Amino acid sequence: MDNCYDDSCKLPDLLEQLPQESFWDKPLYQWDGFWYRAYHLEAAMAFRSQFRPLQDDVFLASPMKTGTTWLKALCFSILQRQLDVDDDDDPIPESQAKKKIVDDEEDPLAKNHPAFYVKTLEVQVFTEKPPPDLSGMKSPRLFHTHLPYSALPDSINKSSNCKIVYIARNPKDTLVSMWHFFNKFRKPEQAPFPFDKAFECFCQGICLFGPFFDHVLQYWRESLKAPNKVLFLKYEDLKRDPKGEIKKLASFLERPFTKDKQVDEVIWRCSLDRLKNLEVNKNGVDPWVGVQNNVYFRAGIVGDWKNMFTAEMSEKLDQITQHKLEGSGLHL
Ligand code: A3P
Repeated sequence: MDNCYDDSCKLPDLLEQLPQESFWDKPLYQWDGFWYRAYHLEAAMAFRSQFRPLQDDVFLASPMKTGTTWLKALCFSILQRQLDVDDDDDPIPESQAKKKIVDDEEDPLAKNHPAFYVKTLEVQVFTEKPPPDLSGMKSPRLFHTHLPYSALPDSINKSSNCKIVYIARNPKDTLVSMWHFFNKFRKPEQAPFPFDKAFECFCQGICLFGPFFDHVLQYWRESLKAPNKVLFLKYEDLKRDPKGEIKKLASFLERPFTKDKQVDEVIWRCSLDRLKNLEVNKNGVDPWVGVQNNVYFRAGIVGDWKNMFTAEMSEKLDQITQHKLEGSGLHL
């Protein structure tokens, strides 16, 4: 199956051979154990065959709805580091610090959605024909992908020093976030997709770029094998201890913070409250996916699943989670 990624491979021929399932009333195709929309699969192939990594590239990776947008904003801010806080030790009073940042015309995140700066390769880059030239990008280049580890080009996961930052999330909140997100693509006259159907699909592993647990476990295992190459983060840890997690992230990216207030600045710049209230994210449109930017910023609550799950659903997904993660050392 591996040579299906050859340039000569014709997608319609490939699709005919692949298992197909319906997800939110749209077809998904299973390739090498994971589920794709046809155009993502085609883009994944182009990514595999055409991408030329640089040694200092940084890849963000995630299943859908696990905090990708947050991670994009954080890594972009850390690598960019045009932060305007003084480097002295005097703490800036909180009210002043916020005003300074809100008024900050220098912050690119105030002008564009984080996805403008950190592109998802199989959605925003390799869907174009021909794909844009990436060679002129400033180093270190920062990209994102939803592809599973096993589908990344060998040039990234086997033969380069590129760093990968992965973000995972509790499967229940991930599913609820996904449900809200995909409902935004439904026509106004359509009712929300039945949650119980979405739940069953997810439990069977059928979701875009899923199965969720296989995706998470591939990156988890790689992070254990090569901790200097793959950093594994969890959404819940970032919410619970943003300072600790963001310091860890900055050190991994070789941009360690020297002052606590630099960390506070990044936390605030990338906070859900700030980003969701920026004009560009309230009223702007995502030209690649064709939705309003505001759909990427919702509640951001750990445990939001309690508003959607029945007790039976909760128990069933707990059992699946326990079974899938057993012996891995990973807890979600
Ligand atoms: P909810 O739907 O639970 O609110 P992704 O970026 O991978 O699509 O994930 C979207 C989820 O991350 C949404 O979760 C969204 O609200 C949350 N999110 C987006 N930006 C965030 C931020 N800056 N901080 C915390 N959570 C954020």
